[in-house]
Amino acid sequence: MYSNINSSNKLLIQKIKVFAEKMMQDYPPGHNFLHIMRVHELAKHIAQKEKADLLIVEAAALLHDIGRKYELINPKINHADKSAELALPFLKTLIKIGFPSDKINPVLYAIRNHRFTKGIIPDTIEARVLQDADKLDALGAAGIMRCFSHGTVKGRQEYNPEDPVCNKRLRSIKGTSSAEKISSFQKSLKLEDKKYSVDHFYRKLFKLRGRMFTKTAKRIAAKREKIMKTFLNELGKEIDGKDL
Ligand SMILES: [Fe+2]
Ligand SMILES: [Fe+2]
Repeated sequence: MYSNINSSNKLLIQKIKVFAEKMMQDYPPGHNFLHIMRVHELAKHIAQKEKADLLIVEAAALLHDIGRKYELINPKINHADKSAELALPFLKTLIKIGFPSDKINPVLYAIRNHRFTKGIIPDTIEARVLQDADKLDALGAAGIMRCFSHGTVKGRQEYNPEDPVCNKRLRSIKGTSSAEKISSFQKSLKLEDKKYSVDHFYRKLFKLRGRMFTKTAKRIAAKREKIMKTFLNELGKEIDGKDL
């Protein structure tokens, strides 16, 4: 069993934070260092609740996207592997100030396996915590903000004026419960999230709650999903002038 946080870990975390921030300068909105700080806070909280090793989780959370710009330049590069590759020499330099050498591989494992879009189910609790924290940052108020800022970077329009918050298309889908309807809607070809940011809520973001590994993340995801549904509801009303 790994040891938990102490004061020397604070110095290590500080050093990792400074390195990660430097590595992520000029990253586009949605995947910049602000995302890293939020994921770090989430991961810390979940790790404590789920009794995962805090130093491994914190280091992995801070370093998990440092290789993302390489993927932006060349889409054949997997940024998770690149981030782990870049993290290795840096973590080795921390051994002399107390980073336990036996924790380097678990950190790299969590970084390599953080991409939920790849459908990876990690073997370690630390990697699961990081993946859950990363998914949670795509939900709630932060998730809404990221969805639109990322959409803008990609040149997407906010919503489809014919069906802004997907209500019409959802109504046309067969299903008894609202969860069933959303699930059939997600499988249908009616979502155009390469064109409209709101469609991305249904294409991807509303799938995330069901993919959380930890009990702690499942609880936070349910709360955050409600915030997003309230937002869509209000947005729909404002677009139709029904909030006046
Ligand atoms: Fe990532
Ligand atoms: Fe991330």
